[in-house]
Amino acid sequence: MSWCKVRKMVAALAAIMTAGLIWGCGAFQDIRPEAEEEADGRIYAQDNGELIIVGFSQIGSESIWRTANTNSIQRALTKERGYFLITDNARQKQENQIKAIRRYISQRVDYIVLSPITESGWDTVLEEAREAGIPVILADRSVDSDESLYTTWVGTNSLQEGERAARWLEGNLKEKNRLYEDINIVILQGTPGSSAEAGRTAGFDSIASRYGNWHILDRQNGEFTTAKGKEVMAQYLSCYPDIDVVVSQNDDMTFGAMEAIAEAGLTTGIGGDITIISFDAVKEALELVRQGKINVDIECNPEQGEYIHDVIQKLEQGSPVEKAYEVEEMVFTHRNVAQYLAGRTY
Ligand code: AHR
Repeated sequence: MSWCKVRKMVAALAAIMTAGLIWGCGAFQDIRPEAEEEADGRIYAQDNGELIIVGFSQIGSESIWRTANTNSIQRALTKERGYFLITDNARQKQENQIKAIRRYISQRVDYIVLSPITESGWDTVLEEAREAGIPVILADRSVDSDESLYTTWVGTNSLQEGERAARWLEGNLKEKNRLYEDINIVILQGTPGSSAEAGRTAGFDSIASRYGNWHILDRQNGEFTTAKGKEVMAQYLSCYPDIDVVVSQNDDMTFGAMEAIAEAGLTTGIGGDITIISFDAVKEALELVRQGKINVDIECNPEQGEYIHDVIQKLEQGSPVEKAYEVEEMVFTHRNVAQYLAGRTY
């Protein structure tokens, strides 16, 4: 038996043991979900029966978006396609992600997929992966490490998302002939130091700073969760009597913020007291866009699994891969949402 085969068997056994531990913790129900039938009829499982072992470090399960992202990756990297996928839920802690990566390195997995919670703090562990010869594919968020420390990145353009939010506000105020009126804005930010938060903040600010009449009254961390979004929004409402616009950096925080606004006796959306700008575009939020209660939802696309699968297939064949792959994203308002709503699966 070749060394490569022995190595893969040892890694698979270690992976199975880890999987048992993960199941025991209840982090994810099933790390090896059923495969979906391939539309193109291709067979992805390798002829020699060896599986490609992938260790996936996911940030957590803070949002509907995150669950959709985990599902997308688990749906793409199935046993039927030749993968053995180990998923670890880091529960919002970078230290847990670093531990998971080190575990994957010691198990000698074939690939590591990392959704990094923050941009910084990855150099050492990425160097360890590189020394072990294990390609690292970054997913969703980006890191500030040197590009040589990872193989590629598959994710979303948060800077562009932030810019799109501000551009929409510009257009909306123009339509209402309010472009030069005083506009009071509060911002619910996501995880500090994450590229999702940093990009959306920088993108929005780059355009907001051109308008002296756009007053950003406050910006606080809503942790990308409904509970925290509601708590922070309730504080804003008690401090600022005349909020015109809420920019909420994900839908889950938006749901919480909308609860707080309703409890304060105010209305949201088209013709309402407060304009709502949200990010992610999950189905539940798109339904509120359709109803006119959320004014605009800037999409952050969680469907990244197929891109990761394609990258791994290229690497397996020794073909070159790009340094970055951006998923496609849209902007949803009441004008275009209806045609996309029915097809939304998350
Ligand atoms: O990194 C993507 C962001 O993280 C999504 O906007 C948010 O919902 C998630 O938790």
